[in-house]
Amino acid sequence: MCGIVGYIGPRSAQDVVISGLRRLEYRGYDSAGIAVGSDGTLSARKKSGKITHLDEELAARPLPASHQGIGHTRWATHGGPTDSNAHPHLSQSGRVALVHNGIIENFAELRAELEADGVRFASETDTETAAQLLGRLVDEGTPLAAAMRQVAGRLEGAFTLVAIDSDDPDRVVAARRNSPLVVGVGEGENFLGSDVAAFLEYTRDAIELGQDQVVEITRDDVTITDLDGSTATAVKPYHVDWDIAAAEKGGFDWFMRKEIYEQPRAVADTLLGRYSASGELTLDEVRIRPEELRRIDKIVIVACGTAFYAGLVAKYAIEHWTRIPCEVEIASEFRYRDPIIDPMTLVVTISQSGETADTLMAIRHAREQHAKVIAICNTNGATIPRESDAVIYTHAGPERGVASTKGFLTQVVACYLLGLYLAQVRGMKYREEIAAVMDELSTMPEKIQRVLDEGQQVLDLAGELRDEHSFLFLGRHVGYPVSLEGALKLKEIAYKHAEGFPAGELKHGPIALVEKDIPVFVVVPPRGRDQLHDKVISNIQEVRARGARTIVLVEDGDDEVLPYSDVVIRHPRVSTLLQPLVATVPLQLFACELATRLGHDVDQPRNLAKSVTVE
Ligand code: F6R
Repeated sequence: MCGIVGYIGPRSAQDVVISGLRRLEYRGYDSAGIAVGSDGTLSARKKSGKITHLDEELAARPLPASHQGIGHTRWATHGGPTDSNAHPHLSQSGRVALVHNGIIENFAELRAELEADGVRFASETDTETAAQLLGRLVDEGTPLAAAMRQVAGRLEGAFTLVAIDSDDPDRVVAARRNSPLVVGVGEGENFLGSDVAAFLEYTRDAIELGQDQVVEITRDDVTITDLDGSTATAVKPYHVDWDIAAAEKGGFDWFMRKEIYEQPRAVADTLLGRYSASGELTLDEVRIRPEELRRIDKIVIVACGTAFYAGLVAKYAIEHWTRIPCEVEIASEFRYRDPIIDPMTLVVTISQSGETADTLMAIRHAREQHAKVIAICNTNGATIPRESDAVIYTHAGPERGVASTKGFLTQVVACYLLGLYLAQVRGMKYREEIAAVMDELSTMPEKIQRVLDEGQQVLDLAGELRDEHSFLFLGRHVGYPVSLEGALKLKEIAYKHAEGFPAGELKHGPIALVEKDIPVFVVVPPRGRDQLHDKVISNIQEVRARGARTIVLVEDGDDEVLPYSDVVIRHPRVSTLLQPLVATVPLQLFACELATRLGHDVDQPRNLAKSVTVE
C-alpha cells in the first residue's frame, strides 16, 4: 500500500504533489519522491524516510517551476526502503517518470527481458520494470496513454501506475488494476490520487477508475479508456462530502474499522506473486539454502500479543503439513528460560511493526545459538527483518489502529505460505496437495468480504451487549487462538474483562466463571474433522446449561448448533485450518463497535502503543 498523487494545472505542481503526499502518508511512509516536467526535461527528487526528508532534499536541491507532476509515498514491498528504491522511477532515457502502488507479479520475467535488451536498472523494485517498459515504447514514438495501455496489458498482479513524459508537458497518464485510483476533477486543472484525501483541498468532484482502465488528464479533460483503447463506459462521477480527516480513514470513523474492511485486499496482496504457473511456491527473501531447511528438526515461533496468536494458528498448519515439531513461545519469555535451540532449529518470528523489542531480543538470542531465523513482518526494512536470515513480508500496508487486525490475518496467511513452502522444500506434500491449499487460499479474500458484508448482525449485537462486564471466548484447535484474539481485541479497545479458553479446558476450572447471561462466544470448527465439531457442540451445551448466553460462530449449513445457540453468526465454508481467516473477522468488528458505542478512542486505546520498542 502506497500513496500516489498526480497533477496538471496552473498551480505549482510541487506544492500540490507534496501536500497530497502529506495527506496520503497514512498509506506508507518509508520513502517519498516527486517528479515534475519542465522545458522538455523531467526532474525527480526522492528520499528514504518520512516526507520531511524529502522536504529537506527539495530545500537543498530545488525543482524547477512546473505545472505537471507526480509523487509517491512508499510502503516498501520489493526492495528495501532506500533512496534508489524510492519512487518515481525514470526510464533509461530519462523521458518517462513513473510511480506505482501494488505488486507486479511477473516483474522478474519482464526485467530479464529488458536486461537482455540492454536496459540497465537503477533499483531493486518491481516498479522500475513498468517504468522501463513504458520508456521503451515512448522512445519508439508511442504516445504515453497508448504505451500505458500496452504496459498494463503485460503486467500481472496489482497496480496503480501514474506517469509523465517530458515531451508531453500537458498530460498525466495512469492505469489501475486491483489497486485504487481516483481522479479529482477541477476547473482548468485535474488531479490523480490513491484516494480523495490527495486533492480534497482543491476539489470535491471525483471519478473512481474501474478495473483495467487507463486515464489521461490534461488541464481541461479527463479521458478514460479500457486497455483495448475503447472509451470506458459506466464511469461514475461523484461528489465528496468528507472532511480531510474522514477522507484519510476512507470515510470510516476509525483507522481500525477501515483496516478491518481492508482485509480482503490485504490478504489478496499477501498471496500475490508467491505461486508460479508451474506450481512452485516462492517467498520474499529466503537466504537459507534448501539443504539447510531440509535439515531443520524443530521450529520455534516467537512473537508477542496478536502476532503470538497468529503463531499459535501457524503451529497447527505447519505441523500438519510438514510433520516438523513446532513450538510457539511468547517473545518476552523466550530467552529467559534458556530454550533448547541449535543450528537445526528454525526460529520464526512474527511482527507487524518489525520493531518489537521483546521479539528482537529473542532473534538475537536465537542467532547467538546459531539457529536460523525467518521473520514474518509487515514493515520492509525494519530492524527485525534486517537481523533475520530470511523474511516473508505481509503486504497489509501500514496499520494505524493500535489494535492489530489486518496485521493478524496477513500474518496467518504468511504462516500458511511458510508451512507450504517448507512442505514443498522437504518433499512432504505433492504439488497437487499444495495447489489445492493455494486454490483455497485464493478464495479467502472473497469469503472475508462476505463476512464483512454481513457484519451488521455483529454491530447490532455489540449494541445489545454494551453494558456487559465479562465475556468468554471458547474454541478448539485453530479456533482456540481465534478465541484468544477475540478476547484480546475486547480487552484492549473496549476495556472489558474477556478471556479466551480452549473449549475442552473449561471444565477444569474456568467454567466456574459462567454465570447467568454471561456472553460466551464459541468458535465451532467446520464439520468433518475428527470429532472436533461434536466436542465443541458438547462444550456449548455445558456453558448453556449453566445460564450462559451463547454466541456461536459457525460455517454455513451447520444447523446442529441451533438448539444450543442464542445467536448464530455464520461464515462461509472453509477447511478447518483456514477457518481463522473468516472466524476472526466478526470478533474484530464486535470489539470495534462495542468500543465505539462506549465512546472510547478505538485507534489509541489507553496505556497502549502501536510499536513496543522497550523490553
Ligand atoms: C494487539 C496488538 C499487539 C501486537 C504486539 C506485537 O492488537 O496489536 O498485541 O500484536 O505488540 O506487535 P508487533 O506485531 O508489531 O511485533
